[in-house]
Amino acid sequence: MFKKEIINLLSKQIKLKPEKISNLIEIPQISEFGDYAFPCFVLSKKHKKSPNQIAEKLAKQIKPTKIIDKIESKAGYINFFINKNKLAQEILKINANFGKTNLGKKKKIAIDFSAPNIGKPMHIGHIRSTILGDSLMRIYEFLGYNTIGINYLGDVGLHIGKLIVAYELWSNKQALKKDPIAELLRLYIKFCGKEKTKIREGLEEEFQEDKWTTKAKEKLKLLELGNKKTHKIWNEIQKASGKGFDKVYDMLKIDFHETVGQSQFGDKGKQVIINALEKGIAKKEEDGAVYVELNKQKKYILRSNETASYITYDLGAAIERAKKYNFEKMIYITDFRQKQHFESLFATLKLMGYAFADNMIHLPFGTVKFGKEIIATRKGNIILLKQVLEKTIEKAKQEIKKRKTKGSPEKVGVGAIKYIILKNEPVKDVQFSWEQALSFEGNTGPYLQYSYARASSIIKKSKNFNKIKSKKNKLTKQEIELIKLISNFPQTVQDAGKQMNPALIATYSHELAKAFNEFYQSCRVIGDKSEGFRLRLVDAFRTTLHNALHLLGIEVMEEM
Ligand code: ARG
Repeated sequence: MFKKEIINLLSKQIKLKPEKISNLIEIPQISEFGDYAFPCFVLSKKHKKSPNQIAEKLAKQIKPTKIIDKIESKAGYINFFINKNKLAQEILKINANFGKTNLGKKKKIAIDFSAPNIGKPMHIGHIRSTILGDSLMRIYEFLGYNTIGINYLGDVGLHIGKLIVAYELWSNKQALKKDPIAELLRLYIKFCGKEKTKIREGLEEEFQEDKWTTKAKEKLKLLELGNKKTHKIWNEIQKASGKGFDKVYDMLKIDFHETVGQSQFGDKGKQVIINALEKGIAKKEEDGAVYVELNKQKKYILRSNETASYITYDLGAAIERAKKYNFEKMIYITDFRQKQHFESLFATLKLMGYAFADNMIHLPFGTVKFGKEIIATRKGNIILLKQVLEKTIEKAKQEIKKRKTKGSPEKVGVGAIKYIILKNEPVKDVQFSWEQALSFEGNTGPYLQYSYARASSIIKKSKNFNKIKSKKNKLTKQEIELIKLISNFPQTVQDAGKQMNPALIATYSHELAKAFNEFYQSCRVIGDKSEGFRLRLVDAFRTTLHNALHLLGIEVMEEM
């Protein structure tokens, strides 16, 4: 309502479209610069005046209204100060849907996330795609989109060829029975130890030529040809992995609309490539490999022995998905090392005439580092995701015992891990340490959960929630800060959606909880003459934090 009014006031004075004005309006970090600010730099060229002069002139022309108290200019900005009592009234009215919109108009957004490779256990490096994807699903759903979560299991590819070779040579039956995931991991590491090639994680296929790698490729070919023995091993690997993955997804409480193996799309991919060959869009080398030309460079889309490669499957899968879901947007979330793969994928689809290629986006994220090293399964320097979760849950159990409260260790432990991942912008690397994972103070998930529980207990203790009228004298500094932050929530969610960046919500949640704790330290709630007002403010905070944490996939507790 405040922003709308400001847009209204501005559009009477300047010749910009309301949407454009809306996009330009900023929320200053420092309260001296107002609650909203409009930068006049864009107007400078047209009016042939400095932004400063324009801002000064406009600030004088625009008259304050009932809800906009004061208008000032500073350094090329027009600063708007809103009426805090009016804002307080608005904030006290919020309900459980606070921040929700139907901006998305039920349009479909498909998100390809998590997508681990079978045969390897999920380690802390896999957690990013999984947790980011889940949070984005929640954000888009909240903004009124129809979301479709797809888990595209890496059930083929060179790593499978390697595992099958290792399985045939070295597997131990008993170990396989007892702990199949551990045994598969042992086999994979052993195989990688034999290979003598440089590997670039994420693009391994293109970089390996070695006798062991050749063996792995042969197994892949056999698998594609439907060889029975190879298939049987493959099935066993699949089953064991599937169980392991499900355990992790259960712990994280993450679901998908569709879980499907990459292998399902090989035939479709090949068929698409044959069509492209017929149309002359793709070309064949003498050895049978097929390529398209992208930026005057050859990009291979089928391997020399006519086996499918990573992109072959993705071509098939993209086309099938577009048909099945008719999505408005399709987001792939993977490590940044697959950036080129997705650029090629989208460009190839476009070359082949698929218009939906323009609606596909790759969201790359940085690596999760543990100590100095990048976590890589083939080296065996991994921390399993399951271990991490179990350890944080155990720590939460001890903390809760110490405090003698009713919190849920699972919610606290899982919340801690999710928050560590989400508080980092996707592009940045995450530095993972046990110390950080097991610390529940400061900028952590448990601190947020704790702030929520504290607010809940205040409400629970009060007998006057429904009795006292929400009347109030002058607002304190801490009250104003809290009210303003609450009012920023809807915009924060929209920004997070636009930028595909849940970190905005994580940072926001932390700011909000801090403001609440400061408020609570300096303003008595129960027994104060503003009790009614303050209780409602606490409740509005509670609702807002609840919704923000929901978008991060972090569960709250009424007591902790
Ligand atoms: N399985 C791949 C990996 O572990 C990620 C797959 C991402 N999705 C896709 N459609 N290519 O690196």
